[in-house]
Amino acid sequence: GRVAVFMGGDSAEREVSLKSGQAVLSALLSAGVDAYPVDVRGCLLKTVEDPQFDRVFIALHGRGGEDGTIQAILSQAGIPYTGSELLASALAMDKLRTKYVFEGCGLPTPAFRAMGAVDEADSILQALNLPLSVKPSREGSSIGIRKVASRQELIEAYEAAAVLDPLVLVEEWVEGPEFTVSLLQNQALPAIGLSTDHVFYDYDAKYLADDTRYQIPCGLAPDRELELQHLALDAFRVLGCRTWGRVDIMQDSKGDFWLLEVNTVPGMTDHSLVPMSAKAAGISFEELVVRILTDTLE
Ligand code: DAL
Ligand code: MG
Repeated sequence: GRVAVFMGGDSAEREVSLKSGQAVLSALLSAGVDAYPVDVRGCLLKTVEDPQFDRVFIALHGRGGEDGTIQAILSQAGIPYTGSELLASALAMDKLRTKYVFEGCGLPTPAFRAMGAVDEADSILQALNLPLSVKPSREGSSIGIRKVASRQELIEAYEAAAVLDPLVLVEEWVEGPEFTVSLLQNQALPAIGLSTDHVFYDYDAKYLADDTRYQIPCGLAPDRELELQHLALDAFRVLGCRTWGRVDIMQDSKGDFWLLEVNTVPGMTDHSLVPMSAKAAGISFEELVVRILTDTLE
């Protein structure tokens, strides 16, 4: 049947999604799949009116496309689609609730609080140790994230984050290095170590900078890498994710690992991490995309 590649969308990650979508589309076409692009804009219900497709490859990032909304609509319409279903998508999009689940399951994640107003700054500073990371709970690609080292910076970062999402997550900063583990068909691929001269692996370091360093093999001893991969699989499992994703994890100076979040539609651009991990495992980009699509039939 025909495959629609959903891309674009109206989230802050629209540009990233257009790149992911184009890369996915080219790979499907070169694999001989009858695929075509759909730039999803406006009302999502329109995408399932008179569909000209039998399956959907979701290459949408952020709210609307990665948070369970389009997944629920496609499920209701009986159209198979790639990746996680409604609940896991919604949970993984929400970094705060993700952490409640991690905590409830005994998985390590940096100490945190929800912040809903400026006047909560003092109680947060009593509960958590500076420096802190301030994040809009439901954004991607590091948009709106700031590192803060004082009360004043916390308030400014909260105000900036709350513009993007009234739900703001404040968590203790872990210096890193940062690692990421890609998951494909419920197996962990080789981990990647990330380093940057930026304060952290931010939007520019992700998509624009040429000096971001990707270490693969990741530099950990084999038993530590295995531990990292198990942790990523646990995170994926407790959220109920399906087929593929990417789990971001920090390591502290003692060597302990701390889960940050799970991405259920990770980037597939030429700077992106899942394709890099797949390649290191001997899986071409084309094979990666076909394997993600194939899982929709099971
Ligand atoms: N949110 C971006 C696309 C990622 O996780 O790769
Ligand atoms: Mg994310």
